[in-house]
Amino acid sequence: MCGIVGYVGKKNCLKTIIDGIKALEYRGYDSVGVAYFRDDDISIIKDKGRIMDLEKKIDTNIETKIGIGHTRWATHGEPSKVNAHPHRVNKITLVHNGIIENYDEIRTELIKYGYEFKSDTDTEVLCAYIDYLYSKNNDMIKSLSMLKDKIKGSYATCILCSDDKEHLYIVKKGSPLILGTSNDEYIIASDIAAIIDKTKRYMILDDDEIGIISGNGYEICDSDLKVIKKDILTFDKNIDKISKDGYDHFMLKEIYEEDDLIKKTLSYYLNNDLLKDLPDLSKYKEIYIVGCGSAYNAGLVGKYYIENYLNIPVYVEIASEFRYKKLFINDESLVIAISQSGETADTIEAVNIAKKYKAKTIGIVNTYKSTIARISDEVIYINAGIEVAVATTKAYSLQVLYLILLSLRNKGIDKNIINKISNDIKEVYEIDYKELAKKISNKEHIFFIGRGIDYYLAIEGSLKLKEISYIHAECYAAGELKHGTISLIDKGTPVISVITNKDISSKTISNIKEVKARGAYVILVCTDDIVVDKDIYDDIIIVPSDEVMSPILSIIGLQLLSYYVAKDKGCDIDKPRNLAKSVTVE
Ligand code: F6R
Repeated sequence: MCGIVGYVGKKNCLKTIIDGIKALEYRGYDSVGVAYFRDDDISIIKDKGRIMDLEKKIDTNIETKIGIGHTRWATHGEPSKVNAHPHRVNKITLVHNGIIENYDEIRTELIKYGYEFKSDTDTEVLCAYIDYLYSKNNDMIKSLSMLKDKIKGSYATCILCSDDKEHLYIVKKGSPLILGTSNDEYIIASDIAAIIDKTKRYMILDDDEIGIISGNGYEICDSDLKVIKKDILTFDKNIDKISKDGYDHFMLKEIYEEDDLIKKTLSYYLNNDLLKDLPDLSKYKEIYIVGCGSAYNAGLVGKYYIENYLNIPVYVEIASEFRYKKLFINDESLVIAISQSGETADTIEAVNIAKKYKAKTIGIVNTYKSTIARISDEVIYINAGIEVAVATTKAYSLQVLYLILLSLRNKGIDKNIINKISNDIKEVYEIDYKELAKKISNKEHIFFIGRGIDYYLAIEGSLKLKEISYIHAECYAAGELKHGTISLIDKGTPVISVITNKDISSKTISNIKEVKARGAYVILVCTDDIVVDKDIYDDIIIVPSDEVMSPILSIIGLQLLSYYVAKDKGCDIDKPRNLAKSVTVE
């Protein structure tokens, strides 16, 4: 999603700003821009498209020591040059992440004061509103402190004021913003990835805080304009250099990282007897799991494990639904929020709501010190390293792994699993997916079916396939198909059926026979302990069975199948159209 970078310091800054926004590319974007002071004026270069194309229009040797940059993922108005950030209105030039919910109302008001708007964006309205406030009181800090009284929604913004070529101004509410500090250089960013090449020292801005930053230092004020001292954090994690390491795509690289990550995680907890360091879920009467997309899907798998091993009812809720529904949670409930980025707007709000109800909250998060990591009562880092491909793979598998570990915390897990799972994953890597991918890559519709845990895995499999290959893929509980959807099954319609759970395999097999009888092209993804007749499927992916880890093995198979289908179609696998890595708007 949108990414912000700002720089002020003693050095020429355009290269740093471009490197910063490149580091945020992985979040997904459709347009890009920079603005900087040159002599006494502000120059803006922006366009729809990729950073590498904009870079050709920018002379990075230009003498400028203060500037801002942005990657935009369109929300209000199509991807276009005029809608790209930075936006300028009179004396104010800014980049913005978030959504101004009442922008229409403010726009109408500003038009009455003589403002004219060129773009369709809420950001231009924010820019004009700051200009309006500044024109009244001639004081940037005071103007920024007044935003909270008017603006509904979220904003993280980095601002240049044409009256002041020495300072950058920042303010945030809802959306994340950090300030990296090094000797005489300050970098503002929406994400640690953008500053890490320059400095590991940074602070996290809290809501309604305002900053004024120059090459000589900075001041942060709270919303009452009192100067406050912020803690400087040191980013001590190893941040992987963003590189494909010889793989064709980040997605493939990340799928191949799963073996090592899963092995390391299991070794850490099992070889050191540390399972008990994880929170004890058995003390709760009921558990809610909230998340979006694949994180929600991981929660479904977690539900299966927690209910089966701990005997506690688990309700998995899509975070954007949880926010607006009647809730029955209280101080005896546990709410687990799952999020790779830790910055998904709906999941953040779900945690805030859970806290209002006094429920205990646990974040299962990948990104260090992200918002969900900070606001949850307890955080479990999955330590998957940076995930660059927009479609999550390694983070999903580690989310599932942590949910399995939580559900088995009290029962314990045999250490032999560590070597076994690693060998099993390698077997899954060795399966040839390419030929099968070719057979389905020209299809318009594909169905996925499964029962129980296999239904939950199939949901994730279908999401993976549709998001990167653009093939319409729908997932059904196997027994549900004949209640309507079976009418869509025609000669050759691919139906990918997942069976890893022996206990109910015969039931799914009956459902497979029903679609096969109607001409479906059946691809069976199953574990090697499932006995099936050859005539019920057309193609088969067999993954090793494991009492505990079968779901992870089958999902890796489904991830690889989706990857090769998308590759066969020539899709932009790491950056599928319209999608963003981190969804910071509701
Ligand atoms: C799908 C995918 C998304 C994310 C979802 C939540 O491959 O990546 O569905 O899972 O946007 O993101 P996080 O986990 O960052 O909260």
